[in-house]
Amino acid sequence: MTVAPTTSTVDRSRLARLMAAERDRFARAHPRSRALHERARASLLDGVPMNWMNEWASPFPLFVESASGAAFTCVDGHQYVDFCLGDTGAMAGHGPAPTIAAVERQMRRGITHMLPTEDAIAVGEELTGRFGLPLWQFTMTATDANRFALRLARRITGRSKVVVHDYCYHGSVDETLATLAADGRVEATDLNIGPAVDPALTTRVVPFNDVSALERALADKDVAAVLIEPALTNVGIVLPDAGYLDAVRDLTRRTGTVLIHDETHTICAGPGGMTGRDGLEPDMLVIGKTIGGGIPAGTYGMTEAIAGRVRTSMPDRADVGGIGGTLAGYALSLAAIRVTLAEVLTADAFARMIPLAERWESGVRDVIARRGVAWHVTRLGARAEYHFLATPPRDGAEQASHADHELELYLHLAAMNRGVLMTPFHNMALMSPVTTEADVDRHTAAFDDAVAALVG
Ligand SMILES: Cc1ncc(COP(=O)(O)O)c(C=O)c1O
Repeated sequence: MTVAPTTSTVDRSRLARLMAAERDRFARAHPRSRALHERARASLLDGVPMNWMNEWASPFPLFVESASGAAFTCVDGHQYVDFCLGDTGAMAGHGPAPTIAAVERQMRRGITHMLPTEDAIAVGEELTGRFGLPLWQFTMTATDANRFALRLARRITGRSKVVVHDYCYHGSVDETLATLAADGRVEATDLNIGPAVDPALTTRVVPFNDVSALERALADKDVAAVLIEPALTNVGIVLPDAGYLDAVRDLTRRTGTVLIHDETHTICAGPGGMTGRDGLEPDMLVIGKTIGGGIPAGTYGMTEAIAGRVRTSMPDRADVGGIGGTLAGYALSLAAIRVTLAEVLTADAFARMIPLAERWESGVRDVIARRGVAWHVTRLGARAEYHFLATPPRDGAEQASHADHELELYLHLAAMNRGVLMTPFHNMALMSPVTTEADVDRHTAAFDDAVAALVG
């Protein structure tokens, strides 16, 4: 993967000085987190329970004491407004009361038993109402839901290839960890750890918003599925051009290719994600993270037509066929999803969250204009993000070419030192149903402070 040089005109030595000061401030304010991280090195690889937890902007990770609503407190006693919200896993807010009550109740009634509960039916009905697809299956994670949807697509079409967007992220799904090289070849992303096979064998990659590239990728009819986020969210938000998603639908229909929408992040657009909001018609749909209110949960849905083909093509026994998981669809997860969708991530909640994201967006836009930096801010429903280029990008490569890791780390750490947590790896903020205007304004003030120090 080639990443073009940054277009940022930030004074690098000033940035380095500011970063050093922020790191120092963070270290002085967090002696307990530092001590815990040191202790953790003896039993956890690199002192963290998962490798990416070392990639935060801070010199060592914050250890959390407790989280509630849209805030958390670290072990050093500092309170943070949380716009990361577990990278969408806690979009419902930390510990929403209805979810906690349902989970406590279900824990006493049986956590997992390899048998269905009535909750599963209620959840299936609710998902159908939101996304329009009639039939659902459950997993532990969005990654698994994507993997299983791809397996089914290959099974029913008898085709081998998968199409994804350049700079997509759909979890740790082998086929999707691919990117376009400068010469147009497909190659493993440079962060792809120990790929099972060369992704060029399994995957065709097309730029977002490029209808002709998709047309070429589908032309030989050897593509089982096109797996997309309706808007890119993981390289930063990249919105579809008018008509792009209709063209994707049209081309996939004409070539008999299964269209899968991954709404794991784009659920921020509304209760039914972009699919529900814009009346889109995928053949399959995946969502995970949010829906369990923090309890592991993922799901994939399908049309009657796909379900019919799945039924006639399944082997006699599916339990060891590559689609499964002992805890997939387990009782605790379904109890959590049922109540989180019915009582927490409701249409009313979105009606509160989206105006908050608009407020966040306009606060950031105002700072960008006032401080004279050539950046812009984008929003998708309850999620907003700023980027280091003046106008919105049309595809992932354009977005990535303006990434500025040093600058991003500085802005994230400056926000942390002012009591605000942003989503790591990009400049994204997500609203929960309990986020407040004061929370949003706190971010605006922190952002202004950090940008002012940078531009002098
Ligand atoms: C769009 C999308 N799909 C799937 C996933 C995978 O989610 P998980 O890691 O919970 O399996 C992610 C994770 O960030 C995601 O952004």
